[in-house]
Amino acid sequence: MTDIFDFEPRVDEYAVMGNPIKHSKSPQIHSLFAAQTQQSINYTAIQVDVGGFKQAVGNFAAHKGKGLNITVPFKEEAWALVDERSERAERAGAINTIKFLENGTLYGDNTDGMGLVNDLKNNYKLNLNQQRVLLMGAGGAARGVLAPLLNEKPTTLVVVNRTQSKAKELADHFSDLGSIKGCGYDNLVGQQFDIIINATAASLHGKLPPLPEQLVTTTGCCYDMMYGRQTPFMQWAEQQGVQTIADGLGMLVEQAAESFYVWRNVRPDTAMVLDVLRKELLG
Ligand code: ATR
Repeated sequence: MTDIFDFEPRVDEYAVMGNPIKHSKSPQIHSLFAAQTQQSINYTAIQVDVGGFKQAVGNFAAHKGKGLNITVPFKEEAWALVDERSERAERAGAINTIKFLENGTLYGDNTDGMGLVNDLKNNYKLNLNQQRVLLMGAGGAARGVLAPLLNEKPTTLVVVNRTQSKAKELADHFSDLGSIKGCGYDNLVGQQFDIIINATAASLHGKLPPLPEQLVTTTGCCYDMMYGRQTPFMQWAEQQGVQTIADGLGMLVEQAAESFYVWRNVRPDTAMVLDVLRKELLG
């Protein structure tokens, strides 16, 4: 007869893979979600060498891993690696979430865009519907959020990029999902938006894309996907007298919650986790 006390509780293994990965907040976020929802999971951060991604995923699967988050620079490689993709991941050309299915296949999803939309809607109480939205940047970060943004049916969605051709290509690729246009920064003069989202790498380099005055309504929102410090774009927004200025911390927590839901079918409460992270950032 088996003594119930011999019975080991089953802990499901999850991890985030990227390079670099040391400063990832994902292990902390998912541990907080797990504690809150009483899910038995272990979540670690795995640094993967460029060129070693496929093998790292294989090793993780062999050790009965249940799911992965994927971050820079492996999101596109992960997209190519998985057997099945969600519709939003298919469009994004990149994935940040892998679920290992019972039959041994890999399911890929991209929760970044939903994370952004949920942060705007739930934490900032901002609707994107019928709003004029400007998305700055045409790299992976921009591409990953376009389908969920268009799904909210903004009046217009303009993608602006330093290299104008990339913005136009991106707009073409998503044009069947809603009203979307691509342009360069020169074309912004005289236009006005309710919500501006910064998906460029400019903040990382302490730079501000060339934005004309009166580009955003004062009742509008400026959202920088970066977090951790006041960016030049957020400073610009303050000078413009914009009502809502947001960093990307909420998006980070919300995309994690969406990944958690994909894996566990349970929706964690993000507000409490966001609160913990915000307090830590403010030190
Ligand atoms: P990610 O995957 O993080 O989006 P990426 O693919 O290298 O990274 O894209 C970076 C984006 O930031 C691009 O849209 C880039 O513009 P270009 O396509 O013209 O290179 C944009 N970017 C980087 N630095 C910028 C700056 N100083 N001003 C404006 N845009 C900038």
